[in-house]
Amino acid sequence: MDLNGKIAVLTGAGGGIGRAVAQKLAHSGMKLVLLGGHSREKLEKTRALVEPFAPCVLLPGDLTDLTFLASAVEDAAKAFGGIDVLINNAGTAQSTPFEKIGIEEYDRIMAINVRTPFFLMQKALPWLKKSGSAVILNLASVVAHAGYPLQSVYSASKHALLGLTKSVAREYHKDGIRVHAISPGGVYTDMVKVSRPDLSPEGMIMPEEIAEIVHFLLVNRGNAVIDEILVHRVGKEPFLV
Ligand SMILES: NC(=O)c1ccc[n+]([C@@H]2O[C@H](COP(=O)([O-])OP(=O)(O)OC[C@H]3O[C@@H](n4cnc5c(N)ncnc54)[C@H](OP(=O)(O)O)[C@@H]3O)[C@@H](O)[C@H]2O)c1
Repeated sequence: MDLNGKIAVLTGAGGGIGRAVAQKLAHSGMKLVLLGGHSREKLEKTRALVEPFAPCVLLPGDLTDLTFLASAVEDAAKAFGGIDVLINNAGTAQSTPFEKIGIEEYDRIMAINVRTPFFLMQKALPWLKKSGSAVILNLASVVAHAGYPLQSVYSASKHALLGLTKSVAREYHKDGIRVHAISPGGVYTDMVKVSRPDLSPEGMIMPEEIAEIVHFLLVNRGNAVIDEILVHRVGKEPFLV
């Protein structure tokens, strides 16, 4: 698929994987709507990196805020007059003993990791159906396949996101909408420093490597369809999950 001029809505682009994806897609000529994120300053930094290559609109806000979520897709679609690609990247992790998780932390993690992609996908459907080359891409995780200590809610949320991805992929296959999951192991971002303080930066996946995978899934729209890409750190044993 020629990405030039296609419209991508990307969540969580203020840093980490999201910023690297925004840069990669801008270099391919995509128009970008950077949706969600608490820090306008971080999003402005991403915009400064991508705008020399592609038009970019910022829609900052807390995606767990139901009022913001309700109008987010409509506002994103209005920015360039449609949506071809939706990338659900915004997310949060934890490093908390199971016994210490309160309802507030549980709800916060589930809201951004599951509820947000659920309703962004649902509200984006009318636009995606009109696209003719629509793609939804969900950032899951290796924890969508395995359970890690201290990551009970994170793991539950990514298992849920993967289930949701599978279901939506099958339901809208008939409409030509491709729905993929990418499930990485440790990527060197702010998140992993909190969720996996035991990991050292050496050997971790770089955000730019995930951006390459996103780009690969978007441009290769042939007859060989990849549902999910599961990717682990170089030092980790292969085929472990
Ligand atoms: N890093 C890893 O090892 C790894 C591995 C597997 C999967 N993943 C997944 O990859 C995705 C990106 O992670 P990352 O490592 O790049 O993390 P990151 O650097 O912490 O980025 C997460 C992004 O999500 C945004 N976000 C979080 N809560 C939000 C909310 N309530 N409303 C709007 N935006 C919100 C953040 O915005 P603010 O900073 O402004 O709050 C930030 O831009 C996540 O879904 C994560 O679960 C990461």
